[in-house]
Amino acid sequence: MRLSSLVLPALMLMASTSAQADAPKPVLPEPLGERCVEPTEVMRARHWEFILHQRDETVHRGIRTTKHSLKNCLECHVRANEAGEYPRASSPEHYCSACHIYAGVRIDCFECHADRPHAAYDALEHHGRLRTEDVKRPEEPQP
Ligand code: HEC
Ligand code: HEC
Ligand code: HEC
Repeated sequence: MRLSSLVLPALMLMASTSAQADAPKPVLPEPLGERCVEPTEVMRARHWEFILHQRDETVHRGIRTTKHSLKNCLECHVRANEAGEYPRASSPEHYCSACHIYAGVRIDCFECHADRPHAAYDALEHHGRLRTEDVKRPEEPQP
């Protein structure tokens, strides 16, 4: 991996962050685990490349791994609050949405994919049926 491809987006992100220094910063919930699946600054600068690459590998080439799976991100990053409730993707308390709402980024991923970790579904009525594996097939007619 060439260094320049890492450094430039990081600098751009830093520049855009300092330009917004007067706006309130997104509050990111503390993740589980010692470290991310890639170095933190790399993830901050271009996490979407890893997930979108993972999607293409799985959906188009049938290669299924967990390192950059969307589900894996949520297992560490989407945490229950003190009341034991897991935030939905519509909430700024949701790890991914904390930044996206702040930065005005819209993603449609959670229209199909589960927006919470495995544990969040254990208490639900449809136990075990709302997992990432069970996402709606794009070819299925949507109601
Ligand atoms: C094993 C647990 C774990 C997994 C799995 C994981 N992360 Fe992380 N992530 C972390 C930790 C720990 C940090 C570092 C937080 C810090 O330094 O404050 C981090 C940092 C990040 C950051 C930078 C946040 C910041 O402070 O700017 C982003 C963005 C991120 N992760 C996204 C993802 C995405 C997307 C995935 C799935 C492809 C993922 N993570 C998978 C634990 C994880
Ligand atoms: C540290 C802030 C931050 C965190 C945390 C974060 N994102 Fe992002 N994300 C961004 C920014 C900023 C962009 C827009 C990048 C651009 O378009 O230049 C983005 C873009 C994306 C995109 C690409 C959108 C597109 O239109 O191509 C995806 C997919 C994405 N994020 C998924 C996630 C997921 C899933 C999580 C949670 C596991 C997450 N992000 C957490 C800041 C963050
Ligand atoms: C219209 C429904 C739909 C939308 C919207 C959607 N996906 Fe998917 N996605 C799927 C289906 C169906 C699969 C295949 C599920 C499988 O085989 O596990 C899939 C598979 C994936 C995979 C591979 C499985 C894994 O987790 O490793 C990733 C990664 C992924 N999608 C990420 C995304 C991201 C990021 C977005 C938003 C930018 C997104 N998807 C939006 C339906 C969708």
